[in-house]
Amino acid sequence: MKITKETKFELIAQAKLAYQRAYAPYSKFHVGAAALTEGDNIVSGCNVENASYGLTVCAERNCIAQAVINGEQKFQTLVIYTEQEKLTPPCGACRQVIVEFFAPQAVIMAVNHLEQVKEWSVAQLLPDAFIPSDLI
Ligand code: THU
Repeated sequence: MKITKETKFELIAQAKLAYQRAYAPYSKFHVGAAALTEGDNIVSGCNVENASYGLTVCAERNCIAQAVINGEQKFQTLVIYTEQEKLTPPCGACRQVIVEFFAPQAVIMAVNHLEQVKEWSVAQLLPDAFIPSDLI
C-alpha cells in the first residue's frame, strides 16, 4: 500500500521523539524508530543500552516489540531516525528481526536531522534470509 506524505511525516516525527528518549549513555549514539503497522497504527522505539553492554537493544527491535505487545505483527514500513550525516542503516540483528515481520518488498527508511532520506526494501537489506518457512 502507498504511504501518504502525511503518514511519512508523522512517522518521522514519532521516530524523532523516540530518538530523544534513547537511553544511550555508553555509546551516546541515539537512535529512534517508528513503524507503520498493517492496521495503520504508528509504534515507536529507541535504543536502550545497559552497563552490561551486550544487553543493549536497538531502536528497531524495541519498536517492533512494542507493536507485538500491542497485538500487531505485520508492518508496512519503518523509519530509522538519527542525527548522523551518514544515514544509519539497521544492524544485522535488526535486519533479521525485520525480515520476520515485514514483507520482502516493504520499505525501510533511514532519515536524519538534515531531512535526508535513504530507502531500502527488506529484501535488499537481507537477501536470501532465513525465514520462518525454512523451519518446516
Ligand atoms: N543501534 C540501534 O539502535 N540501531 C541500529 O540499527 C544500529 C545501532 C544502537 C545500538 C547502540 O545503543 C548504539 O546504537 C551504538 O551501536
